[in-house]
Amino acid sequence: MKPIQVGLLGIGTVGSGVFNVLRRNQEEIRRRAGRGIEITMVADLDVERAKSVVGAGVQVVNNARAIIANPDIDIVVELIGGYGVAKALVLEAIAAGKHVVTANKALLAVHGTEIFAAASAKGVMVAFEAAVAGGIPIIKALREGLTANRIQWLAGIINGTTNFILSEMRDKGLDFDVVLKEAQRLGYAEADPTFDIEGVDAAHKATIMSAIAFGIPVQFDKAYVEGITQLGAADIKYAEQLGYRIKLLGITKRTDKGIELRVHPSLVPSKRLIANVEGAMNAVMVNGDAVGTTLYYGKGAGSEPTASAVIADLVDITRLHTVDPLNRVPHLAFQPHTLDAAMD
Ligand code: HSE
Repeated sequence: MKPIQVGLLGIGTVGSGVFNVLRRNQEEIRRRAGRGIEITMVADLDVERAKSVVGAGVQVVNNARAIIANPDIDIVVELIGGYGVAKALVLEAIAAGKHVVTANKALLAVHGTEIFAAASAKGVMVAFEAAVAGGIPIIKALREGLTANRIQWLAGIINGTTNFILSEMRDKGLDFDVVLKEAQRLGYAEADPTFDIEGVDAAHKATIMSAIAFGIPVQFDKAYVEGITQLGAADIKYAEQLGYRIKLLGITKRTDKGIELRVHPSLVPSKRLIANVEGAMNAVMVNGDAVGTTLYYGKGAGSEPTASAVIADLVDITRLHTVDPLNRVPHLAFQPHTLDAAMD
């Protein structure tokens, strides 16, 4: 069967990761998806740099609309970020009948209702595992693994940059600005790092999770948002002396008055698991009435962890294109190649 054809909009940190992981694990991904997945077109303003990442055999263009207009492209992966051109391109891709995979939490937290309605009207998927907590499959956990539960609350460290800053300030006594620069160098921070340090990025992610967990519209404007810019070395030190660590938490919970949604620095007792989540790692706790409290931990930012989530969405969409509609979960069936790999 002909491979699913994918067009990438933007090939920066995450896009390069998607390209590299897809190529490296090509055979396994093909077997799991039931069909090959190929990036055949890439759009980037810096065509020469993009060519050096993807090599020969992939068409590189500087106009994203050339990808949307190409009838052979099945899935458009939006990795541009922000609300402006990314929103227009996602809506155009949907209107052209393409499935969309995006890592753009800002776009979904603010314009998700419009985008999901457009996708639903057109009968295409918008998948966004990479938008929340990088490589941790928290969207799939909320939608699939915990689907039997009435979710009571959800709380987590969902911004790697601020967690990295708080960890490095505490452990190494480094200045805020020095650590922020390092987070930028490592590819954790947003293009506009004020989104990280002011808590906006975490609030985007908390908004998306809240919508899924509680079945409410995405409403970023309802979130209380406070970042870490008012914290100093002394706050971190005093918290430590009192047996606490300061963590920037995203929290959403069911209350008698409705759904609460907030992001702010919190004092967490040092012995709690979540207090010991260090560096750019993320962790999300979810409490459901049937399952109790569950915890998800992993890399919340960076090239390949985020690529892992993007590719998981590509595989999901590919399966829907490939398998018998009455049996849409081939990944739950016994797969000999998985066993072979485990025994290597
Ligand atoms: N700037 C984000 C972070 C990237 O630091 O967590 C991943 O969403």
